[in-house]
Amino acid sequence: MTKIRKAVFPVAGLGSRFLPATKAQPKEMLPIVDKPLIQYAVEEAVAAGINEMIFITGRNKRAIEDHFDKAYELESELEAARKDELLELVRNVIPKHISCMYIRQSEPLGLGHAVLCARPIVGDEPFAVLLADDFMDTEAGQRPVLAQMTEVYDYEQCSVLAVQDVPRENTKQYGIVSAVEYRPQLELVNGIVEKPHPDLAPSTLAVVGRYILSGAIFEHLEKLGKGAGGEIQLTDGIASLMGKERVLAYRYEGQRYDCGSKLGYLQAMTAVGLKHPETADGFRAYLDALCKR
Ligand code: UTP
Repeated sequence: MTKIRKAVFPVAGLGSRFLPATKAQPKEMLPIVDKPLIQYAVEEAVAAGINEMIFITGRNKRAIEDHFDKAYELESELEAARKDELLELVRNVIPKHISCMYIRQSEPLGLGHAVLCARPIVGDEPFAVLLADDFMDTEAGQRPVLAQMTEVYDYEQCSVLAVQDVPRENTKQYGIVSAVEYRPQLELVNGIVEKPHPDLAPSTLAVVGRYILSGAIFEHLEKLGKGAGGEIQLTDGIASLMGKERVLAYRYEGQRYDCGSKLGYLQAMTAVGLKHPETADGFRAYLDALCKR
């Protein structure tokens, strides 16, 4: 049985919906309360038993590399000031047994192209893809979303896409699958199309930013031309893969926030702010007072 050991984080997008915040840093460095989006995504991968993290970076790559690297100056200053708790926080951004690798996508040619850039490191083994701007929140007692998916993979040994139902008028923002029921929470995908018009969408089942892909996806991505929006689309690669291999759609448990959009980002911040031990009480009181005004 093959296990998922590698995760790919495409972080080379332009983040144009979040300008000017994303002018000099990737949107994946935007914080939800006190942690950047990319750290939440890496923690989700670690919780799924993955220990090799591959970042596909773009022009503003430094912030992410620095975030997961040792910060000598900051650490010695915190040590000298005896700020032990903060020191631990900075040192434990990533567990010691995890390795981080960086590949540059020289031009933002699309998500499919970004994933293809990981081929030299991933080889032909199955791997996970996490889009950190899709922030996945789970409640106590729920497993993190990627761990739910690796569990499905361990059993099914095929590609698994995270999906959720969306309002029909929103199909233009997503890859949309057509599928038939397979097992509880799982559907067998028989079609997938990128950003269809609501009148043409085969369903309202949308792919969100968590994937487990068979290593064979690379051959399919390599042959692709430009798709929707003039970009090399991961969706088109999956459509081609589907002709050869089984692809499953998994209805995950948890709440997704689209942090690539301003509204989704504010919603995520609110959800986490209401749970974070340092802010929960004060923030709830503030929101209550705000609602009474
Ligand atoms: P988005 O569709 O959200 O695009 O990409 P974007 O450029 O980041 O944001 P907007 O739409 O301009 O505001 C989905 C994911 O794919 C990555 C992005 O970083 C994001 O995680 N991506 C996209 C790449 O790494 N390279 C690309 O060429 C395109």
